[in-house]
Amino acid sequence: MAYLSPSILTADFADLKTQLKKLEEGGADFVHLDVMDGSFVPNITFGQPVVRSIAAATSLPLDIHLMIVRPELCLEEFALPQTEYLVVHEEACLHLHRTVQQIKALGKKAGVALNPATSLSVLDYILPDLDMVLLMSVNPGFGGQKFIETTWQKIRDLDKVRREKGLNFLIELDGGVNLKNAADLKAAGVDVFVAGNAVFSAEDMAQRVREFQSILK
Ligand code: DX5
Ligand code: ZN
Repeated sequence: MAYLSPSILTADFADLKTQLKKLEEGGADFVHLDVMDGSFVPNITFGQPVVRSIAAATSLPLDIHLMIVRPELCLEEFALPQTEYLVVHEEACLHLHRTVQQIKALGKKAGVALNPATSLSVLDYILPDLDMVLLMSVNPGFGGQKFIETTWQKIRDLDKVRREKGLNFLIELDGGVNLKNAADLKAAGVDVFVAGNAVFSAEDMAQRVREFQSILK
């Protein structure tokens, strides 16, 4: 069982409600929200007020990807009733263990994201506490980038660690996911598929979500 979490990063932000409805119509599992601060990544998207409006406009559970420095300062504001996952970057956290415990204390599932060049080993002592590990398959900041090929090995390595340690965190993949690579990614061990451009460039987004789901389900 794998899940689709479309990213609204390349959506038309003046018409979010309509597009969220299309994602629901197609049967998306989550909506992936890319919060960027212009400091951790070279792009600025949206923050708490917009996330609150999105939560009110959709029935989809929120998968919130925080690409911000010091995420611990605003976790509570993102822990809405509709929030399913709060994902912070390992590279943005000075005290990752503490931040993960804060997310759990807020009653939310905790995810940690790794940039393409960050080794899996940084998670060695926190893995049992995690509900999800997000592997970036592009450098974070923008939609529509090319999939970084070394990610394949990283997915397989993480899946192997998961099996060896008998853990059950989900593996989420973010960046360059499309209809062509989805089946192979699933076979490699990916559970949660973030897809931005591949969904939002489609003429019929609901249909595109259904196409993804026919591969993932
Ligand atoms: C990139 C974001 C992604 C982005 C993926 O920093 O974290 O979620 O929207 O976009 P695509 O699927 O177009 O690569
Ligand atoms: Zn993302």
